[in-house]
Amino acid sequence: MEPYRIKVVQALPTPPFGERLEAIRRAHFNVFFLPASRVMVDLLTDSGTGAMSDRQWSALMRGDESYAGAESFFRFEAAVQKFTGKRHVIPVHQGRAAEKILAFTLLKPGDRVVSNTLFDTTRANVVFRGAEAVDCPHPESRNLASTYPFKGDADLDAMERAFREGKVRMVVMTLTNNTAGGQPVSLQNLRAVRELADRYGAPLVVDAARIAENVFLARRHDPELQDLSIAEGIRAYLALADVVTMSAKKDGLVNIGGFLATDREDLAEAFQNFLVVFEGFPTYGGLAGRDLEALAVGLEEVVDERYLAHRVEQVAWLAGALREMGIPVLWPPGGHAVFVEAATWMAHIPREVFPGVAVTVGLYLVGGVRAVEVGRLMFEDLPYEWVRLAIPRRTYTRSHLAWVARTFEVLHTARERIRGMELVHAPRLLRHFRAHLAPRDWNPEALADIALEVGE
Ligand code: F0G
Repeated sequence: MEPYRIKVVQALPTPPFGERLEAIRRAHFNVFFLPASRVMVDLLTDSGTGAMSDRQWSALMRGDESYAGAESFFRFEAAVQKFTGKRHVIPVHQGRAAEKILAFTLLKPGDRVVSNTLFDTTRANVVFRGAEAVDCPHPESRNLASTYPFKGDADLDAMERAFREGKVRMVVMTLTNNTAGGQPVSLQNLRAVRELADRYGAPLVVDAARIAENVFLARRHDPELQDLSIAEGIRAYLALADVVTMSAKKDGLVNIGGFLATDREDLAEAFQNFLVVFEGFPTYGGLAGRDLEALAVGLEEVVDERYLAHRVEQVAWLAGALREMGIPVLWPPGGHAVFVEAATWMAHIPREVFPGVAVTVGLYLVGGVRAVEVGRLMFEDLPYEWVRLAIPRRTYTRSHLAWVARTFEVLHTARERIRGMELVHAPRLLRHFRAHLAPRDWNPEALADIALEVGE
């Protein structure tokens, strides 16, 4: 059961099918344009969408909004030091602000960055700086049937090849590996990457957005972690990093916030120089004092075993329910989301016409569920076509997830009714956020008779 009970509630929007149809048309069939007031169960992202605890809400009142040297900063700094084991702590308003500072500090045009897989904003910041991003995901990560427990790992051979080709100035390991299915990275793999980074003289950055989930999942299969608490396990991983970046909107259990942390004096100094230009003074870095307070508490709460066990179980329950229906899902389930293999599930829709996007449209029309495509629309060269159902933290109950499962069940029996999508308009960077699409050779109205309505 949920290891918490509900103290404040927010009414769930329940628009009927006609309103959903109107909303998705106005959104150019891109779920990022849907108003949240038209979404029933919102699994677009687990980023900043979670519920804060009563302890966090009360911490907000302690927020010290002094421009320089706020008390809140020192509480935040101590919490991040304890969480990461790193001395220098630089607050930023969210993960991509840390990525921008990193890119400006460590990269020049023409440089290269290697990674297990960069998240899309990290990649965009690298590319925006004129550098090249090289992803080296583990071969097992593409094998849906494999039960390899560390599908988030880097492919060490591919990474070494990239190093030998030259100009690699930074290594980024993303934990868990979001784009490769929220899969954990093993401590052993991170150690091997550290050795490569040392051998070729490049700093190792750990993107720790979901580090607590990573450690919880990894510990099941790694005897070395089994004697450690989650907090100790996190520090064992992060001890290998020169720099830690964190979008605290994930495992920081807050709605906004992030940080950079490092033991290296020279890097801390360089980060702070960019911080004052891009974000703010070093003791608030783009956040209010109250945000720093909520984050300090969130970092304590996320290492709770009961919280993590429930979180991971929620994801596994939904993944298991879909798998039982015969819907292809990435296995084993990751830490924050269920990933559906849309190209296999919708085998009648060619990859060129975005089966993943078609599924997001179908899920929204049938059950008011908002999911996101991780496929060709997100990155043209992605080798897979996934639909991600990210579970916000401490927000939905089992019956909300049962509604999502039911939505899939209905769409599964009628899947031939949905077809491909045409790209009508696409921005250059991060095109999936603002692309316009249209159904090709099918009419979304044809889903009216199977759409689920609340209260029926
Ligand atoms: N790193 C990872 C692994 C992420 O998943 C994200 C964001 C970021 C960095 C960027 O952080 O949003 O605070 O600027 N991921 C969200 C998602 C948006 O839906 O997966 P941000």
